Amino acid sequence: MESNMKTAGTMTLSYDGKTTELPVFSGTHGPKVVDFRKFYSETDLFTFDPGFTSTASCESQITFIDGDEGILLYRGIPIEQLAEKSTFLEVAYLLLHGELPNADQAEAFNGSITRHTMVHEQLKNFYNGFRRDAHPMAIMVGVVGALSAFYHDSTDINDPIQRRIASHRMIAKMPTIAAMAYKYSIGQPFVFPHNDLDYTENFMRMCFAVPAEEYSVNPILADALDKIFILHMDHEQNASTSTVRLAGSSGANPFACIAAGIASLWGPAHGGANEAALNMLEEIGTPDRIPHFIDRAKDKNDPFRLMGFGHRVYKNYDPRAKVMQKACHEVLNALGIKDDPLFEVARELERIALSDGYFIEKKLYPNIDFYSGITLKALGFPTDMFTVLFALARTVGWIAQWSEMVEDDSQKIGRPRQIYTGAAARDYVSIGKR
Ligand code: SDX
Repeated sequence: MESNMKTAGTMTLSYDGKTTELPVFSGTHGPKVVDFRKFYSETDLFTFDPGFTSTASCESQITFIDGDEGILLYRGIPIEQLAEKSTFLEVAYLLLHGELPNADQAEAFNGSITRHTMVHEQLKNFYNGFRRDAHPMAIMVGVVGALSAFYHDSTDINDPIQRRIASHRMIAKMPTIAAMAYKYSIGQPFVFPHNDLDYTENFMRMCFAVPAEEYSVNPILADALDKIFILHMDHEQNASTSTVRLAGSSGANPFACIAAGIASLWGPAHGGANEAALNMLEEIGTPDRIPHFIDRAKDKNDPFRLMGFGHRVYKNYDPRAKVMQKACHEVLNALGIKDDPLFEVARELERIALSDGYFIEKKLYPNIDFYSGITLKALGFPTDMFTVLFALARTVGWIAQWSEMVEDDSQKIGRPRQIYTGAAARDYVSIGKR
């Protein structure tokens, strides 16, 4: 990746009688950056930024978020337009290559993904090692990590052809592996992919078809799920993407890096929030119980948080949440679900929270996870599959970001430092003198 950073002056820092000049760079959109790469060698000081709230970990040309304005762009194109007009595989091409595909490029890319959807027959043996009640995310971490044991011909990260094959294999096999995790958890036989179905239709059929009867995909539901996948594909340097980049910076193979990303996404503060948000809505149960939960969310001594609310970057409405709310409506209407009690609780909770001083002052808005749980439940997925679907979609962003990092000549192994405040240097004391 060629750098697009533009020189934008310098910053002067003074401490302890010494002055340091640091270069400042600007990008296409968003805040400028101060280049601290030489800061330690010139000052013998570290920067301190746990949680990286003020730190840009890399230069990237894939996704841009404006948290104050509630803007999300994939390669410069607004998420709302892509969700409305594009398809998952077309957006996958955009994220991987930087431009939307023309007809020939789309045919070649879709054809390659289609032909990689099957998994090695022996991969099935991994599922049998899990209890049937294993959380599907535990299965995903294990099985995806095991892919590097099967595809040695695409683990040399320095070979661009092997990187492309590994990328296509990862994107193509995630739906198959995810559907197998679901089938295993409900004791039904695995369903093979069908090459005459598109990406999302194929996934729905692998999840919901049974050998005993024909299965036809509901195009309205498939379209809604395709839209939901587009919303989840990438999101700058979030926790799981940063995990993938850090793992990849050591030269680890892409399958192992994606497994690390899946593990990070599982956390309830991150991708696990859609499952947690639905569980929260079910615990609230009825609108009259909302004030009690709002009080708990505001109580400093209560660890409870409103799942599906708040975001490190968005201090405005998450643009994906608006599209998700619309998709939720479409799915509930298509299924004839008129007064879904969870949807009523969600809308009332949103209304109350957005008018409450605490949430207004802390700029806590619904995020993508707030409505996704209701939608996925209506589509027929059990709650513990919600984060699996998030991982399925985010695999494209992880792979695109991993590729960008590998192709960035300036990237080095990630190795943060620390401030040490433990015991001062001291000698060993033998047990008789303790
Ligand atoms: C995703 O990074 C990404 O881009 C992630 C993601 C992606 O696409 O990759 O967008 C996907 O992970 C969305 C977020 C899903 N998580 C949740 O919905 C879980 C609930 N949300 C919170 O845990 C929280 O909002 C975070 C983790 C999302 C963000 O936390 P931050 O940025 O570290 O902010 P914070 O925890 O410091 O909160 C700031 C203040 C705190 O109060 P004070 O200590 O300042 O008094 O706001 C409060 C928090 O207590 N707060 C909440 C709250 N979220 C923050 N209070 C109640 N309910 C909440 N949900």
